[in-house]
Amino acid sequence: MKIPDRLLPLLEQGLIHEVIRPLMSGKEAAVYVVAAQEGICVAKVYKDAEHRSFRQRAAYIEGRQVRNSRQRRAMEKGSKYGREQTEAAWQNAEVDALYKLHAAGLRVPRPIMFSDGVLLMDMVMNSDGEPAPRLCDCNFTPEQAWRVLEFVVYQVAGMLCNGLIHGDLSEYNVLLAWDGPMIIDLPQAIDAAHNQSARSLLVRDVENITNFLARSNPGLAEARFGQEMWGLYERAQLFPDTPLTGRWRGSTRRVDTRGVMREIEDSAREARTRRR
Ligand SMILES: Nc1ncnc2c1ncn2[C@@H]1O[C@H](COP(=O)(O)OP(=O)(O)O)[C@@H](O)[C@H]1O
Ligand SMILES: [Mg+2]
Repeated sequence: MKIPDRLLPLLEQGLIHEVIRPLMSGKEAAVYVVAAQEGICVAKVYKDAEHRSFRQRAAYIEGRQVRNSRQRRAMEKGSKYGREQTEAAWQNAEVDALYKLHAAGLRVPRPIMFSDGVLLMDMVMNSDGEPAPRLCDCNFTPEQAWRVLEFVVYQVAGMLCNGLIHGDLSEYNVLLAWDGPMIIDLPQAIDAAHNQSARSLLVRDVENITNFLARSNPGLAEARFGQEMWGLYERAQLFPDTPLTGRWRGSTRRVDTRGVMREIEDSAREARTRRR
């Protein structure tokens, strides 16, 4: 395999020992399985700035800390220097978010280092030690769908308690590791307290996951965890252990808890019948 240029400096500096194979190339980054001192890790190489759109970034970058007013003005104007700064802010946001959330005990990969536009982090694995699949690659029973939703919802609440909103959460950015879901891909992480779009981005994040899992358990479709969470957060009543119900006062509809349970029971009954 030809070693990508962007990984050469890390090899030369001995930060990684070997590039094992490409894992995935998405819209924003190419991800490689590499061997490093820490063992098998992944290296996320951000795509070059020119290949990506900056306009959409504005909504995300709002409220983020920048170094100085010159940097902010340049970022707002979109000059070459400004674009470089925006790009750096983008990559750093993922690194910062990973360090912060990992330190807070949340389910994100442990970051190892960030160098030359490459983020090195723990590889999220399945029970065979292979890279973990994304939620979109998995099938769920209604009960599993409910458990995954519950798990992810509490992770999102934990992130919000740490002042961050993922901003691009979906079945493509949650991996199913051997020990449960892991959340990845955070360059657009949002500062919850200083971004005017915070609420809508949080609600969208949670809806993406809810809608995906509702395909396996239609009873979940009515859950409104995002709205509920934001309501509590705004009133400073959200803590990592605050119980969430998926019910939200602003909604006219109720969560059909019995529907959720009915789906789970039906599928258990079907499984029993099949076994017989
Ligand atoms: N720490 C990791 N462990 C295992 N697989 C990963 C890890 N990080 C990324 N991947 C894989 O690489 C893909 C792309 O990474 P991601 O961070 O989502 O970037 P993109 O912006 O390209 O979507 C993911 O969908 C996932 O399959
Ligand atoms: Mg992704």
